[in-house]
Parts: sequence; structure tokens; C-alpha cells
Amino acid sequence: MPHKYIVRGQWKSRVGFILAASGSAIGLGNVVFFSANAYKLGGGAFYLPYLIALFVIGIPVMILEFGLGNFSGRAFPESLYRIAGKRGEYLGWCANLNAAFLTAYYIAILAWVAGMLVGSFAALWKTSMPVPAFGLATGDLANPDAYFFDMLSTWKPILYVALVWLLNVLIVRKGVESIEPVTKVFVPLMWVFMVILIIRGLTLENGVQGVYLLFTPDFAAMKDPAVWQGAFGQIFFTLSLGLGIMTAYASYLPKKSDLTQNSIITSLLNCSFEYIAGVAIFSLLFAFAVVPQAHTLSMTFFVIPRGIGELPEGSVAVVGVIFFALLLLAGLSSSVSLVEALVASMRDKFGWSRKKTITITAVTGIVGSTCFVLPQVVNSGLENNGTLGLTLLDLVDHWVFSYGLLLVGLFECLFVGWVMGPDKIREHLNVNSPIKLGLWFDTLVKFVIPILLAYVIGFSLWSEFHDGLYGMGYARYYDEDFAFLKFLPVVLLGIWLAVCTGGAAILTHKGKYQSAV
Ligand code: PHE
Repeated sequence: MPHKYIVRGQWKSRVGFILAASGSAIGLGNVVFFSANAYKLGGGAFYLPYLIALFVIGIPVMILEFGLGNFSGRAFPESLYRIAGKRGEYLGWCANLNAAFLTAYYIAILAWVAGMLVGSFAALWKTSMPVPAFGLATGDLANPDAYFFDMLSTWKPILYVALVWLLNVLIVRKGVESIEPVTKVFVPLMWVFMVILIIRGLTLENGVQGVYLLFTPDFAAMKDPAVWQGAFGQIFFTLSLGLGIMTAYASYLPKKSDLTQNSIITSLLNCSFEYIAGVAIFSLLFAFAVVPQAHTLSMTFFVIPRGIGELPEGSVAVVGVIFFALLLLAGLSSSVSLVEALVASMRDKFGWSRKKTITITAVTGIVGSTCFVLPQVVNSGLENNGTLGLTLLDLVDHWVFSYGLLLVGLFECLFVGWVMGPDKIREHLNVNSPIKLGLWFDTLVKFVIPILLAYVIGFSLWSEFHDGLYGMGYARYYDEDFAFLKFLPVVLLGIWLAVCTGGAAILTHKGKYQSAV
């Protein structure tokens, strides 16, 4: 059904755009996931593959996604439609639906972060408290852990989910017009908080040891494909690539913008923040010899709080509040980009008003995020260490993170490389930038990036068959009453696949883009 031409907003300034794009990029991924991945993959073993991934894949794909948005002036599905027809559009919707899963659980994590922020003002740092949820007595668990589990098992997380969604709605309600002023405050504040944390970390006795671990390279480990898999996944996630976010953001820029430099600046800002965060966190953990478990969520909610709890009494609550406030700000400026990208794609296609589109997105989103926090609330004793909610999140995250983003990245390179021709985007970008993209850009987009991504995705698939389907290991946690949960990993994989591929087919099929606007 043809619809009226939608009036699109525009960023007011280049700085505003860069802050918003880097606000999207800098998120939970930078503050905790990076450190958790780096630790899991051997500290120093990680940073060379990571840097290579940044320059060979991250920055070029960022240029590509910014370029697509600016070239077409549209969000992801329509921009791909314009270069590759219906199959391009289909990929765009797959990316958006994958992004919808990510939004749902990203906001669920933010809801827990909000709960921890509230607790940080006092309760989190008490010496000890009981955990009614598990019938544990005072002293059975470290206090931040106890607080976390107690909070999880009340109805509060649902309230926090609604609250975080409400904040998102408020920030995106007028599109770029309302996103720009908010990120202009959030992003600089995040840097200030991070600098405080790093000074605190490095001035601790032995804090520097952690930094050595992060920066001592381990060349032998680079032969391990798992390290590359981790580095590629992390680069896509941290730069918010493979979801169409950057395309949506760049579609609100004037045609004459210098996207090449913007991509480089945004990527470097993001990755320097990530390294600074790594230094702060590794120093904190090593100063107190807290073992940084590899799992990203335990890093956020148990390990780092435990480290903070060890600080001298005067700094505990202050650092605690700063840490969780930082996480919330960083997470919010990322989640709004996810919401905006979804809203922009739907408006491009269906011509709905902003209000209607945001309402639909938020209502669906609240239901989705609630699904991730609910299992704990309903029955915290469901599993002996009470992590069904986390397990659910973990399982979905695995497919979204290790496959979804990279697959979209692979196909978008193929469409631009082989259907559209990268020279078109390159020429469009070169007109407005002092940094000229050469033929090397075409080579990367056509050959190098697709081959590298295919290799990593292939390795992930191989591990899936070789080590057993991801998540099947969780089955051992469930007792007989909950035997049906054994099938959870397979069921979730099925739902994710069906929604992303089937949903995308429906959306591609429904309606038509208004031509020539
Ligand atoms: N880049 C964000 C982070 O590092 C996460 C994110 C991914 C946000 C994709 C939006 C889109 O946390």
C-alpha cells in the first residue's frame, strides 16, 4: 500500500552524529563483555586478533553500513532493497529481527543493571545478608551475589524492564531530534566515569599486574580459530554492526557528509573506550585476585561487584554507584539505537506515524524483555544455582551474537560486492571525504571479509556438531520435575530461526516501498 512520504529528521551537527553513533557502539560490550572475552581467550592472546579484526573488518564494514544509509537515505531493509531488490530487503529484515531479539535481552540485562544501581546506594555493600530465594543464611554468599539473587527473584526486575523501556521510548520519541541532545550528555559522562574507574583501578596495589595480562601477547594462541571467532564476534557486536543500526543512523545525515572519517572516528573512539575499560577492570580484578570467570554476565553481576566490595571502605559505595551508573548510561545509549533502527525500518516500509511505530515496538519489546527476566521471578528455585533466566539469555545470545551478526555481515558484503558493486559506494563516499577509499576497499568487500567471515562461521558450525549443540550441556541442571526444559536449547534455536527467516519473508512480502521519494 503506498504511503505518504515520511518526513525524516536530520542530525544537527557532525559532533552530535559522532556522539550518537559512538554512544550506540559503546555499551555493555565495551565495559564488560570485552574483558570477559579477553580473559576467556587468554588475555594478551586476544588483542592482536582484535586489532586485526578492527582494521580489516570492523572499520570497512562500518564504512559500508554508514555508506548504505547515506547513499539511500533509508534504514537497512530499504537501503538493501535499493541495491539488491527483494533479496536485499529480505536480508535487511533478517537483520532487524535478529536485532529485535538482541534488544529484548539487552534491555533485560539493563533492567538488572538498574536494580544493581539502586542497590549500590547501600544494600549491595553490606557485609552480609540472607538469600530467602534459596533459603540460604546470612554469610552463605558474598553480599553482592546475595543481593543480586534476591533482587532477581522479586517482581522488581519486571518493573525495571518497564522503566528501562520507558526511558528508551522517551529518548527515541522524536527520533534524532531527541536522541542527539541526550547522547550529547550521556557519552561525555561515560568517559568521565570511566576515567575515574581507571584511576581507582591503577592506583590499587598490584592493579598494574592485570594490565600486563591484558597486553602481553601470546602468539601461539593465535593459531586457535576460537580466538578469531571471539575477536570477530566482539568487533561486530561492539561496533553495533550486522544489525542495520549504523545504516539507520547515517540515513539521517545530509548527503554531503564525510562518512569515511566518521566511520574511522566512531570505531576508534569505541575501541579506545573498550581498552580503557579493559585496563580498569583487569586492574581491579587482579588487585583483589578475584578470578574473572569468563562468562560475561557473571563478570557484570558477580565478579566486578565482588572486586568493588573489596575496596577501602570510603570508596566502595562511590565506585559501585559509578560503575553501575556507567553501565546504565552506556547501555541506554546503545539500546536507543537498536530501537530507533527498528522504528526507522518499519516506518520506511509501512509509513506509520512515529507514535504508532514506537508503541508497537515498545509493547512487543516489554513482553520480550520480560520473558528473559520472568523465569527467575516465577520460580527462583528452578535450578540449583538459580540461573534459568540467565540460561535463557545465554542461549539466545549465542545464536544472535555468534551467528546472526556475522551472517548478516557476510551477506551484506556479498550484495554490495557482487550485486551493487562497491565502486558505487566508494565513489559516493570519496566525493565528500579527504580520505579516499582505493581499490583495496573493493577487494576487502568482495573477497577478504566474506572469506574471513565464512571461515569463522564455518568453524562455529563445526564446533556445534563436534562439541554438541550449544546449550545442551545445560540440560544436566534440571531436575526431574523440569525435565521438559531439556529441550529448551533446541526449542529456542527453532524459535530464533523461524522468527528471523520466516518473519523476514512476511515483512518482505507485505507492502511495497514507495518508489522515487
Ligand atoms: N555496541 C553495543 C555494545 O557494545 C551493543 C549493541 C550492539 C548495540 C548492536 C546496538 C546494536 O554494547
